[in-house]
Amino acid sequence: MERGLFITFEGPDGSGKSTQVEYLREYFAEKGIPGVFTREPGGTEIGEKIRGIILDRHNAEMGDMTEALLYAASRAQHVEEKIRPALEQGMVVVCDRYVDSSVAYQGYGRNMGEQIREINRYAIQDCVPDLTFLIEIDPREGRKRIQAGDRDRMEKQALAFHRRVYRGYQQMAALEPQRFVVIDGTQDRETMRRQIRETVDKALSQRNII
Ligand code: TYD
Repeated sequence: MERGLFITFEGPDGSGKSTQVEYLREYFAEKGIPGVFTREPGGTEIGEKIRGIILDRHNAEMGDMTEALLYAASRAQHVEEKIRPALEQGMVVVCDRYVDSSVAYQGYGRNMGEQIREINRYAIQDCVPDLTFLIEIDPREGRKRIQAGDRDRMEKQALAFHRRVYRGYQQMAALEPQRFVVIDGTQDRETMRRQIRETVDKALSQRNII
């Protein structure tokens, strides 16, 4: 079956990843590239409700396994309802966070390792990204960019947790260099925008999309 292109964005909180996703959306609109822009947790009506539960600061008693399963549940719905159908139609899907976030935050951050890969095998099946941008920023720097009063349940985790997430991302990128493109998140937005655009252009032309 004809398959589109699946691009994901990953990185620690405060990496500026969502701004870059927004830039890419504008670029696709300018060029008339058929793209679906979406995010996790969320991306569907059910997924957005699950997102509300996961990120609610009042849900401080949430267990690690509950958290992991909720992220995976949101993802299963997302893949089935939105991502897979779009890819099957030959579209480009751009997702702000995906399964690598679970491996980094729950796997490395919560020390749940292999269990997270296992749970997510059910959630995503064969729906693996073709290209993943990792916007790298030191967790201390990332935290500084988010006002203390605005922090959601995940952003409120201790710095040690965010350091494990950061190290996890680095290891994942080193293990799969053919999929991950690491972008230095301390650069200015325009430089990052250019680097991302060049890589995306290459991937699109390889697939004969532009
Ligand atoms: P998001 O709203 O994308 O945060 P940001 O604006 O920093 O990109 O994601 C919400 C939070 O959920 C973020 O702290 C990362 C976390 N997360 C996980 O822990 N596991 C997951 O599988 C996903 C998708 C996100």
